[in-house]
Amino acid sequence: MRQVIADLPASKIREVANAGMGRQDVLAFWFGESDEVTPEAVREAAVASIRAGDTFYAQNLGLPELRDAIAGYVSARHPPVGMDRIAVTSSGVNALMLAMQALVGPGDEVVAVVPVWPNLTAQPAILGATVTRVPLRPKDGAWMLDLPALTAAVTERTRVLLVNAPNNPTGWTLTRGEQQALLDHCRRTGTWIVADEVYERLWFRAEGACAPSFLDVAAPDDRLVVVHSFSKSFLMTGWRLGWLVTPASLVDALGKLIEFNTSCAPVFVQRAGLAALAEAETFVPGLIARLKTCRDTLLPRLAALPGVQVATPDGGMYAFFRVAGQDDSLAFAKRLVADHGLGLAPGAAFGAEAEGWLRWCFAARDPQRLVLGVDRLAAALRL
Ligand SMILES: Cc1ncc(COP(=O)(O)O)c(C=O)c1O
Repeated sequence: MRQVIADLPASKIREVANAGMGRQDVLAFWFGESDEVTPEAVREAAVASIRAGDTFYAQNLGLPELRDAIAGYVSARHPPVGMDRIAVTSSGVNALMLAMQALVGPGDEVVAVVPVWPNLTAQPAILGATVTRVPLRPKDGAWMLDLPALTAAVTERTRVLLVNAPNNPTGWTLTRGEQQALLDHCRRTGTWIVADEVYERLWFRAEGACAPSFLDVAAPDDRLVVVHSFSKSFLMTGWRLGWLVTPASLVDALGKLIEFNTSCAPVFVQRAGLAALAEAETFVPGLIARLKTCRDTLLPRLAALPGVQVATPDGGMYAFFRVAGQDDSLAFAKRLVADHGLGLAPGAAFGAEAEGWLRWCFAARDPQRLVLGVDRLAAALRL
């Protein structure tokens, strides 16, 4: 086996979850998904597709009607894109891997803004690239970009700048000005930007709006790849469907790569994706409103606990916080599960920069679960 594969770290979130899975008394907030099931119209579309016999291979880049619908969905929120810039993928994580396979090889340099969902930095490492981590910096519980440090790290040698915003786990989001500055800089250095924007719709600052996207500032032929997923905004984590927006010149190559990875996304899943896009405005605004209620239930209660440092995120589905005196996040998360039935993700899972922090996914159907969870945390802190 290649050493880099043998050396891949096991998921620390799984390590905590394994200690509590199957226990009925545990309130689990460790994974990044809602406990709401996919909307019925979406599930019905998949059932109808299977009944109709959609059990065959399909186009590498996705059903033309789905690529067209995605282009329409993206164009309704950002400057217009044609379906010639869309590739359908078998999940967001598959979209990220395809982008990496297309852009980086052994010895290439990738710069990543961290802490971040660990898959983003593991993928270029698997491909033999070196990953330089540029940390966000915590200030009063919120995480901020050090723009001069990031631009200093991205040079002519940097193949890819990896940015995930709204960010998992910190909730940090890029401003429009920061996006423009990064784009200008990467134009000068010839660096690709891979922007993971899977949380763009989960944005609480303005009703109906989405988080700032690189698509809003970039030209169609800029070296920009935007990664998207059906998982988060459409309650479809288990379906494994996503997409990429890229310059049109990259799409044929992506089609070839998809052939060698998955060949295509399952047709009945793509039909479910079509239904999700067609129905999106009937259920996504309600989902966002419910998530906002969850955020506004959890955050003030968390912030009121003595010793807890936390900031209210504008986007995403996570509260990221630290407790004074608890510097070993994995040990603390395991103790919370074992002794108090509270399941959280340890900050260390997202990189050494986040050691001492904990991530709480607040996407709960019943906000009362969050209140109970805070009570358990308070008990653990013996308050
Ligand atoms: C930042 C980020 N990107 C991508 C994904 C991938 O989502 P999926 O593979 O379910 O589409 C996730 C999932 O947690 C994520 O947090």
